[in-house]
Amino acid sequence: MRSNCSRFDFRPIHITNFYIWMHSFLDVDSNTRENSVSHNDAIISQFTKQALPFSQMSQHSNHYGLELMFELSNPQVDDKVLDVACGPGIIACEFAKKVYHVTGIDITPAMIEEAKNLQRERKIDNIDWKLGDVTKLPFEDDYFSMVVTRYSFHHLIEPRQVLEEMERVCKPNGKILIIDVTPDKDKVEAYNHVEKLRDSSHTGALTFDELKGLMDEARLTSLKSKHHELEMRLESILKSSFPNPEDIPRIRQLFQKDISMDNLGMKSHMENGEIFFYFPISMILGTKS
Ligand SMILES: C[S@@+](CC[C@H](N)C(=O)[O-])C[C@H]1O[C@@H](n2cnc3c(N)ncnc32)[C@H](O)[C@@H]1O
Repeated sequence: MRSNCSRFDFRPIHITNFYIWMHSFLDVDSNTRENSVSHNDAIISQFTKQALPFSQMSQHSNHYGLELMFELSNPQVDDKVLDVACGPGIIACEFAKKVYHVTGIDITPAMIEEAKNLQRERKIDNIDWKLGDVTKLPFEDDYFSMVVTRYSFHHLIEPRQVLEEMERVCKPNGKILIIDVTPDKDKVEAYNHVEKLRDSSHTGALTFDELKGLMDEARLTSLKSKHHELEMRLESILKSSFPNPEDIPRIRQLFQKDISMDNLGMKSHMENGEIFFYFPISMILGTKS
């Protein structure tokens, strides 16, 4: 009698808990989906404006950075490369000179248009482009021999998920290369604050240790890395990244303060009366086991 009663009492509570749990699960899931949909809208809106100025900024084709990228990744003539969040196709077109084939994927149509223009200008025929969200790569497992991404992780809500996808489409023994800004641990908060003001699609830069931690978690092996600093003129980047006009004085003030304090970790300095600073760039390469 007792046990019947307790079984009887228990079931409705159990079922209710189950529904509460399911409901919260569905809510979390739909919130995450909504967040990523609205973030993707912000990305497309921001990079539609940035597509042309970004593609024209000589710093993004900086020779030293490209050489370092090739030294680290050592592309081969038979490589099939995927450039994730390829933007205007700058590194995709560089890889195409050295490998069998390159595919570039990006969510912003205006960026893919710039990429096609660059491909046409350089008369490259071993590249194709795809419009899509890199959180779900539309490619089969183990397809590419090298999967790369540059300057995208600080725009993503789920960098871990994108790395998982990069690994899925990379064949065993293939290489995965991530290039991104990696501020120092004690500067990362201030860095993300000013970068979010400058570019509303910035979600958050990872420190080098955090980036390496993601590669370790993904069980990538033989990790190798390189670092360099990319100099920028503040006024040029303000012009090409479309911050809210009312935030511009505050952004200038933060960079001005960085000259004496180095609190952003961007080594702001004056050259001929203008503010320049450095993006701290890391490249990290791993092998899929
Ligand atoms: C700063 S740009 C870098 C472009 C290029 N990788 C380069 O280094 O020149 C960042 C790019 O990431 C793309 N992006 C951001 N989130 C994305 C997503 N979820 N799926 C596809 N592309 C995305 C943007 O559209 C933009 O073209």
